[in-house]
This record gives sequence, structure tokens and C-alpha cells, in this order.
Amino acid sequence: MPRLRTLLALSVAFSVITSKGIHAATPTFHRDVERILQKHCQDCHRPGQVAPFSLLTYEQARKRAGDLVSVTERKRMPPWPASTRVGGPFRDAQVLSDREFGTLLAWEEADCPQGDPADAPPPRTWDSDWPLGAPDLELRMSEPYALSADGADEFRVFVLPTGLTEGKWVSAVDYKPGSPKVVHHVIAAIDNQGLARILDKADPKPGYRVFSGFGAFWPVGMLGGWSPGKSATPLPKGVGRYLPSGSDVLLQVHYHKSGKPEIDATAVGLYFAKETIEKELRVKTVVPPVSGFLEIPKLHIPAGAANHEVTATETIDDDAHLVGVTPHMHWLGKDFLLKAARPDGSTLTLIKINRWDFNWQGSYEFVEPVALPKGTRIDMVAHFDNSARNPANPSSPPRDVRWGEQTTDEMCIGFFDITFDDEHRENSVPSRFRKARRRAP
Ligand code: HEC
Repeated sequence: MPRLRTLLALSVAFSVITSKGIHAATPTFHRDVERILQKHCQDCHRPGQVAPFSLLTYEQARKRAGDLVSVTERKRMPPWPASTRVGGPFRDAQVLSDREFGTLLAWEEADCPQGDPADAPPPRTWDSDWPLGAPDLELRMSEPYALSADGADEFRVFVLPTGLTEGKWVSAVDYKPGSPKVVHHVIAAIDNQGLARILDKADPKPGYRVFSGFGAFWPVGMLGGWSPGKSATPLPKGVGRYLPSGSDVLLQVHYHKSGKPEIDATAVGLYFAKETIEKELRVKTVVPPVSGFLEIPKLHIPAGAANHEVTATETIDDDAHLVGVTPHMHWLGKDFLLKAARPDGSTLTLIKINRWDFNWQGSYEFVEPVALPKGTRIDMVAHFDNSARNPANPSSPPRDVRWGEQTTDEMCIGFFDITFDDEHRENSVPSRFRKARRRAP
């Protein structure tokens, strides 16, 4: 796109002229570029964080100026795979505007002028504490997990007993990665049946190994997740997730090795609801139709298929609001789309991921919950690339792929966090957590 690039670079240079008089024709690092790096890159590109190099100083940025332009032009960085043109809008969306990209490009094409340090914005600071204040319950991995310097990414689940003697409504969850250098993302769930403890015992190291999910069971509840740059936001007023008494919090951590041995003990902070809970945040899914005794979703991606389509549909059976969505596929995922068709005939794109990247799967929270009236149809359309040309294909040569938990299996799920408009709980415990009452002897 050389022509578009030049136009963008020129338009930025011009607007700088008009707003700053005749001297400032080209963007400089301190006046223009540094702000962009602060806003979009430094959450990860600073010492001790997940990105492999820092982008704090002029030297660090100048050395890689060409790369900065190329990754932002291809929208590889900042990593935000969801479209920002359709779907959403989502909280914490991480994308450069055309203008910001134009600034970066014009700066690089002008040989990266440093400018006057007096123009620099104050350095960014990061809260090392809990931004929402001290949690009501802070849980940490009981034993730190030791990672080797190199090797494949690891996915492990750690079991954190809550010790709660009564159930609690949770209104916000935050995470503190123990070693942000290696913690690529965290997903949390709830187990109140001791199933995860069994898996933990069977694995000699702290926690237990998984690829995706939490092992061969569905957790009774979810607690959201964390990835670099994601801020903890409390649920809408009156909405909560229920944490039953005696339950365990399960942390699924995706580790990406840093080149040096590291030790991690990630913590989770739970904030209990201070107000009456009227609505439970429920997790619903849209998945391909299930079959067989085990009710496994039907999925068959033939070896070599470069654009295999998978579709699924789910109907919302009561007036509801959609709080967030989490698309899930494995390495062969190519693109992913969730649309809503409302009973009045209107349609709405909820999320569109044009280039699926297993490493940057995330959960997406809408800035404002989306109304889904009773009878709304949710349609999922996803494509998979099971050809030898897909560099992410874990099987060489490609083989037929079916539904499963393993790296070489696939999944296709749209998880959605939803509340029902007619629910008025007044704090009452969800029925699935109510124990059958024993009669007194
Ligand atoms: C959410 C964390 C995060 C943010 C925000 C982020 N990066 Fe990265 N970046 C990474 C990680 C992690 C890698 C290592 C490769 C990978 O895992 O994809 C990386 C790699 C890179 C690379 C190496 C080339 C490559 O393709 O691997 C460049 C260049 C880069 N980032 C530039 C940027 C720029 C410029 C920004 C801001 C506009 C930015 N990044 C924002 C996490 C981030």
C-alpha cells in the first residue's frame, strides 16, 4: 500500500504544520511518537513484562522504527484481534487510529527525529497494587511454579481453595501475575466438587497440565480472565457471579517462556458485592450440535481443507443483556463471527475476528451491555485452515481433526456472559448451588 502510506504520512505532516505553525513539519519522538508508545505499547513493552523488548526510550524506538511501522500496519501489534469497525465496542480495545499510525509512519520516513526532550509527556507509571483497592479475598498459588528458560508454551491449572464457609456474590475480579514476563494470560473458573483437586493430585508438579479448558469437566462457574493491558472492571450494578461456600478458584495460566528460568505465583483478587444482587451473570455457549452418548459437538475438519466452515445457532429464550463474549478455537482457527438476529428483523454483529490468533484469544467486554430481546438468534460462523500452508497447524502432514481438548484437536465455541432482564434474585442463591436439605435426625 505504498500510495496510501505516503498519503497518510503527508496528511499527518500537514496537520502538524497547520496546528503548530510553519516550524513543525515532521513528527518528532518526544512530541508525537512517545505518547503513542505510552498509550498503546508500554503496557507490555517495558522491563519485566511479557513483550520481548522495551519501548520506553528514544533509542529503543529508533532501533526498531521499521518494525514498529510494519507490525502496526499489519495490525499485529498492539495485539487486539477483534475488528473495531464492526462488533463491540469493547472495553480496553487496543488499536492505533489511522492518525496515530500516520504519525508513526511519517516519523520513520523522516529518519526518526528525536525532537526536544522538553516536549516529552511525563513518563507513564503503573500501579503495582490492586487498582480497585484491597480485594475482599486475595488468593495466591500455594506453591510457585518453576518454568524452564526455553521450550513450548505451557498451560496449567492451579487450584486455589477459597476456604469460604458461606457463598458470596462476586462483583469484580482482578489478577496479579506473579511473573508478568511469562504470564501470557489467565482464565479463572470455579469448582465446588473437588474435581480439579483430583487432577492436581495426579500431577506431580504444582497444578496440572491442560491445553485449553480445565480438564475433562465443565466448571460450575467462570470468573473472567486477564491478559496484559486488561483492566479489571466491576460488573454492572446489581449483577454478580456466585462463589459457593467451600469452593476452589481455578486459575488456568498460559505461560510463554522468556529465555531465562522464571518462577510464577499468580494471585487473584475477589471483590464481593456490596449491593443487592438481582441478576446472576450466566455463561451460555453457542456450539455446533452435539451427538452421541457423550454429547460431544460434531466437528470434522478434513486434512488439507484450507477454509472449512463451521456454523452454529442458539436462540435467546428470554429478554437478556449481553455483557461480554469469549470466542474459542485452537490453532487451526482462521476467523470467527458472532451475529445477533433480533425478532424485529434487525441484525447486529457482536464480534468479528478477521485473523484468529490462538495466542491472543481473549474475553471481550462490551462498553455497554447489548440488549438481546427474547427470540434473538445468535449465529456463529467460523473458518478453519487445516492445510499444510497454515504455519500454526500442529500436525505435519495435516490430519483429520475432530472435537477435543488436545493441541491437535479443535473446538469452536462462542461463550457469552449474559443476564436476564426479568431476574430479581434479591441475593438468593442460584438453584444449582442449593444443597438438598437433610432432615434433622
Ligand atoms: C498486550 C501486550 C502487548 C502490547 C500492548 C504490544 N505488544 Fe508488541 N509484542 C508483545 C509480545 C508478547 C510480543 C512477542 C511476540 C508475540 O507473542 O506475539 C511482541 C512483539 C512485538 C514486536 C516484534 C515483532 C513480532 O512480530 O513479533 C514488535 C515490533 C512489537 N511487538 C511492537 C509493538 C508496538 C509498536 C506496540 C504498540 C503500538 C506493541 N508492540 C504493543 C506484546 C505486546
